[in-house]
Amino acid sequence: MNEVKLELPSGISYPVIIDNGALNRLPTLIPSGARRAAIVTQSKIGITVEPGIEHKVFEIEDGEKAKTLTTIGELCSAFASWGLTRSDVIVGVGGGVVTDVAGFAAATYHRGVSVIHVATTLLAQIDAAIGGKTGVNLPEGKNLIGSFWQPKGVICDLDALDTLPESELRSGMGELAKYHFLTGDLLIQMELKDRVSRAVEIKAEIVAQDEKEQGKRALLNYGHTLGHAIENIGNYEIKHGEAVAIGLIYAAELAHTLERIGHERVLEHRQVVESYGLSSSLPSSMSNEDLLFAMTRDKKAVEGFTFVLDGPKGLEVVKGIEEILIKETLEKVR
Ligand code: GLY
Repeated sequence: MNEVKLELPSGISYPVIIDNGALNRLPTLIPSGARRAAIVTQSKIGITVEPGIEHKVFEIEDGEKAKTLTTIGELCSAFASWGLTRSDVIVGVGGGVVTDVAGFAAATYHRGVSVIHVATTLLAQIDAAIGGKTGVNLPEGKNLIGSFWQPKGVICDLDALDTLPESELRSGMGELAKYHFLTGDLLIQMELKDRVSRAVEIKAEIVAQDEKEQGKRALLNYGHTLGHAIENIGNYEIKHGEAVAIGLIYAAELAHTLERIGHERVLEHRQVVESYGLSSSLPSSMSNEDLLFAMTRDKKAVEGFTFVLDGPKGLEVVKGIEEILIKETLEKVR
């Protein structure tokens, strides 16, 4: 078993347990005062959990389209009807959609109840379930409403990956490719358990330094400015990691346009993304205008277009990039 401890400056700390069969550890994470556990999941997940206390399953719909305030309202009503109290616990069992929704419901129900994440997809195990970001989408963009709400613990049961659909695995690969550029680690060459553990370690190290994204944590958004725009414009039919993969190539091309990196480094981005089995080209149906408009609504866009870009000092947040350069560079990922 691998266990990564996430330790935050606020004094909060919690374990991320990574193993085959790690699900059995769920009862050890249940807070001592909790009498009931609300299990938030989706019918397609098909994983039964035994928290060791009274529990009830609350299902949400599949896909990013379920990440809405309506879903949060319905869930919280159902919790209240069941009698869930603020000393009880919510357990999110699923991928990033479930952990974002369960986490945000936990952050807001009764002004905050404990949450535990059982991450069942590669993407949730290496990213979404770790670090306390929770939230839902608006028609205007992805994750535009949310909260930081740290879980009591995270379980990454590698057995869940055995039956993961190919498209979900590919989606996780996009985030793994991102970690490659954060650290230079050759995650693709590692055994699955080590790969997940290393990605969790990288994320834990960054979140430990910057829990609420005041600085370094923003680097975890590498590839996400265009990635989120692609997801939004494509009605969330393109998976997050696949969109991030295109976003990584675009960010490299933009860094090259701005003379921050050389051609070789752009090629390296293309090779890494391809080695993870991902496409590096925009869907032809997406217009530059729609993508530009979606990018203006990104949470990072406080002072004009903002991107995480590679450069001589590594990854950095770069603000106020000229629209014409952003538009022209989109042609390089077509
Ligand atoms: N997924 C980026 C973050 O958790 O900060």
